[in-house]
Amino acid sequence: MSVLGADAPELDLEGHSFVVRGPSALRGTVGVSGAKNSVLKLMAATLLAEGRFRISNVPRITDVGLMAELLRAVGCEVAVNSPGAAGAADGFSSSATDTGGSLVIDVPAQIEPVAPRNIVDRFRASIVVLGPMLTRCGEAVVALPGGDDFGPRPIDMHLQGLARLGVESETVDGYVHARAQELRGATVRLDFPSVGATENLLMAAVRAAGTTVIDNAAREPEVVDLCEFLVKMGARIVGAGSSTLTIEGVEDIGRFGSADHCVVGDRIVAATYLTAVGIASGEITVSGVNPDHLAVFRGKLADMGMEITVDDRSISAAVSSRLRSAKFSTLPYPGVATDLKPLLVALLATADGVGSVTENLFAERFRYVDDLRAMGADIRIDSHHVVIEGSERLSAAEVKAHDIRAGAALVIAGLGAQGRTVVSNAHHVARGYDDLAAKLRSLGADVSLSRS
Ligand code: EPU
Repeated sequence: MSVLGADAPELDLEGHSFVVRGPSALRGTVGVSGAKNSVLKLMAATLLAEGRFRISNVPRITDVGLMAELLRAVGCEVAVNSPGAAGAADGFSSSATDTGGSLVIDVPAQIEPVAPRNIVDRFRASIVVLGPMLTRCGEAVVALPGGDDFGPRPIDMHLQGLARLGVESETVDGYVHARAQELRGATVRLDFPSVGATENLLMAAVRAAGTTVIDNAAREPEVVDLCEFLVKMGARIVGAGSSTLTIEGVEDIGRFGSADHCVVGDRIVAATYLTAVGIASGEITVSGVNPDHLAVFRGKLADMGMEITVDDRSISAAVSSRLRSAKFSTLPYPGVATDLKPLLVALLATADGVGSVTENLFAERFRYVDDLRAMGADIRIDSHHVVIEGSERLSAAEVKAHDIRAGAALVIAGLGAQGRTVVSNAHHVARGYDDLAAKLRSLGADVSLSRS
């Protein structure tokens, strides 16, 4: 096992493990960059029109590289730049408090509306190229998405909603073949406020004939960010952040084009650092996030005994003694995000008393439980409820990341465990966290990366 140096880049972590030596309290300030679940959709949205697009506050994560690969495969040029290094062809900043890199995307007059399996298979967000490709070309061939290891990720709501706008589709050999003679505005009521379905419908509606209403739309800050980007491109959208989105189609392509945008801060990454201090204790400030985006979550942490103060762009948290346990339920925004579930289970595993997390979105999001049990956590699963009896101290173990958030949860659980915790499959974490080990080190934790 060779240990990487403190300054080693963390982007490609295939074959690597996190090594955490706990316990250690956290102190200092950590910056979060733009949200994975926004930037990937903004990149897809550029396919809607020819032109040059600049996106800043871009996180240094592998999923951005995969979306760049997908855009290049359909004909775009994508340059990834470090902050303060305009013109650099690739690489992002790796400082502990940076606010992300930037992308320049040149979209040509013609694109090839095919998203090949070898790229799409590797990340779920790829399905959002379907809407923009249909708008731009009237047809799209998109491989069914791969992604996380927590159960089925159907796209029936995407396809039913698109059908209301005039799209015919069939799935053959793992590819969705979709076509529309003409996209027509319509009213679409989603059975559930699906983030991805809302985004695909938005991007199919922005240039459709007439008005589209998406009822029971997702309200996540990342959907609002996409709406803002689309409006900069020329779209007419009313209701961003509410359950009803009204899109007036802009049929004249001449009124649709280039945009510059700064990605909204990643509330899930920010919440990860807050959970980390809840487990490790100490005093930290997380900057680069809108505190309103974590209002419900912050309230719950305060109920558990965390001292929290906020300003416009940061959240400060202090933990001087063991937190009290609590009951959480995952819900669409503004509820506590499903992505936080493994982190909450890790947090409750060290809190005082019996707590629970009820999962309402992804029924099979449980793969990390056995790993936390290996670290001494007392966890019982009862249908979609996880019941956790907190212990004063977890113990170190060799565990495995199964998806982005589960991996992050095991790393931060290691901060509260006695001894050396090794979390293998670090590449899953690198899909959604930029420089997690370096950023935790900047807060005083003993976290490194090693080649397995
Ligand atoms: N669903 C359907 N049919 C559909 C679409 C969704 O049944 O056509 C169900 C899903 O199975 C799930 C629920 O609806 O039970 C919510 O899914 P949603 O469509 O909202 O999720 P998503 O767009 O696939 C995004 C994020 C996820 C995050 C969810 C929920 C991206 C790339 N992914 O997924 O993030 O958990 O919204 O907020 O934006 C992550 O970042 O680690 C991650 C998994």
